[in-house]
Amino acid sequence: MRNNLQQQFYKLYHKNAESAFFSPGRVNLIGEHIDYNGGLVMPCAITFGTYLLVSPNEDNVFRLRSLNFDDQLDIPLQRDYTKTGPGWFNYPLGIIDYFLRDGHRLRGIDMMFYGDIPISSGLSSSASIEVVTAFALNELLDCGYTKLDLVKLSKSVENNFIGVNSGIMDQFAVAFGEKNKALMLNCDTLDYQAVDTNLGNYILAIINTNKPRKLAESKYNERVQECQAALAALQQKLDIQNLCDIDTATFNQYKYLIKDEVLSRRAQHVIEENDRVKLAASALSKNNLAEFGRLMYASHDSLRDLYEVSGRELDTITEYAKTNTNVAGARMTGAGFGGCAIALVKEYAFDNFSDQITAYYTDKIGYAPSVYRSLIGDGVRVLK
Ligand code: GLA
Repeated sequence: MRNNLQQQFYKLYHKNAESAFFSPGRVNLIGEHIDYNGGLVMPCAITFGTYLLVSPNEDNVFRLRSLNFDDQLDIPLQRDYTKTGPGWFNYPLGIIDYFLRDGHRLRGIDMMFYGDIPISSGLSSSASIEVVTAFALNELLDCGYTKLDLVKLSKSVENNFIGVNSGIMDQFAVAFGEKNKALMLNCDTLDYQAVDTNLGNYILAIINTNKPRKLAESKYNERVQECQAALAALQQKLDIQNLCDIDTATFNQYKYLIKDEVLSRRAQHVIEENDRVKLAASALSKNNLAEFGRLMYASHDSLRDLYEVSGRELDTITEYAKTNTNVAGARMTGAGFGGCAIALVKEYAFDNFSDQITAYYTDKIGYAPSVYRSLIGDGVRVLK
């Protein structure tokens, strides 16, 4: 891969890249729409990700090119930047802008990106490109940011430059991910533990709905606002900072404070899902994959009925999964509104699962999904 990318870099810039970096994508095992409510999530970095090859130039220009997209940006070094159009290059441009505004003296850099994360699939290609760019600039210019700084600044670019009010889970997972481990992350304190994902004779399958995602960003921001409104209602009587500061029993006692029925359902999902993550962590530590799978289905049902971020395509996947006795559990992963689902599938039955779900889904939806065997990999790094 590296050699091939070096050749591509040479073709683009007529010189060799000086260094190369990689940042993965992520899946979230459970704990969805929790991070911006200060609760527990359980993401893993995957082996798909974003490669970035770079070489500084003498002409004070940032050249942002990708092997995945035709559009590109060549932009002279300025004091700062703003988002320009819908192009992919806004992610690295936002990171460059952050470094500049934070007082770092930058010079021009030729950059070439290549990603093998399916685009718009909900596997965090955006966090991956943000973090790989931030990591590379930090290394090249010796800016002295810690990995946690890079996570926070990438999230800030997503929120303030790109305009999506996401939580910290994706950037954290792609930076701190470890091979064959899930991160039990407390999104309030940012304490985390890397726990073994010992799946026994199961493997993790990723099923991409291949549904073009529309309105995902505006619907996402709408959910964030709904949670804030529900929290404000509960704060009339409860001294809490986040929805996840209370458990289901306390919520049931105080939910009368939330007068709006839609807001109440949103909060119910968040608080019950946070409790489910605790149960899931305990099930995983006891290798009780049947229980873990049951919690995955419960998570999906709640995202469908209470949080309303699923859709016919994602529901069709879990609907099929429930009919297959070689599947322990399945659920949508990430923001929803299309994107991907994950399933725990008996390893020996994976090929059959893949064929069957493809046939079932194609029959119901009219086009095929993509099914991958997912490997849990390491976080952002320099490629030697
Ligand atoms: C997206 C966001 C994350 C998180 C998930 C839902 O991936 O970027 O911060 O909120 O959705 O769990």
